[in-house]
Amino acid sequence: MKIFTDHRWTIGAGVILALVLATVGIISQGESYKGFDADTLIRFGHILSGITWIGLLYYFNFVQVPSLGGVTPETKADIFKEGSIVRRALWWFRWGAMFTLIFGILLFMNLGAGAGWDIRIGAIFGIIMWINVWMIIWPNQKRVIGITEATADEKAAAGKKALMASRLNTLLSIPMLLFMVASAHFPFFN
Ligand code: HEM
Repeated sequence: MKIFTDHRWTIGAGVILALVLATVGIISQGESYKGFDADTLIRFGHILSGITWIGLLYYFNFVQVPSLGGVTPETKADIFKEGSIVRRALWWFRWGAMFTLIFGILLFMNLGAGAGWDIRIGAIFGIIMWINVWMIIWPNQKRVIGITEATADEKAAAGKKALMASRLNTLLSIPMLLFMVASAHFPFFN
């Protein structure tokens, strides 16, 4: 079955199942239901792209980087080539970050004057993390994986810079998520 062999079909099937169940719930509530609007879709899109981004951030930090320590430059060239796992992971990683930010800013605009300190702290950390992805990690990774021309020394320096920014993002992801969720459920500030 294609939904188990083609990931695009898997995602489509997940979306359809979510929409069908949500529709059943809404219909069962009849006239009394209030709640599903553009904000719902944006919020859900924000969380889906957020877990895609942070899931891959954790994969890079906890799985990929520790595994590539002793790998030779020749093997690395192979691991980083066009169509490789690393390039695909980096694609989902940076675009996950982009859509998280876009949906996050839309949510923030919807909150308007109601945006408290919890969400401000979460959003500031999230924006710092996005800047790290697009301005530091990705340009340096392009040198490491050979999209941008670089000497062996330049590649090593770029790898270090990308790693520092990636580690900072891993650190920030923890308070970022706490404060982001706190905002609507258990605010620390008011
Ligand atoms: C990139 C910058 C980001 C901005 C500007 C941002 C902004 C926002 C805003 C404004 C809200 C709505 C809060 C409320 O209704 O009180 C929110 C909620 C949320 N965000 Fe973010 N966010 C960002 C990054 C992330 C990331 C990386 C994740 C990781 C998964 C994430 C996960 C969540 C979650 C789980 C919620 C809670 C939804 C709820 O409880 O209703 N956000 N975000």
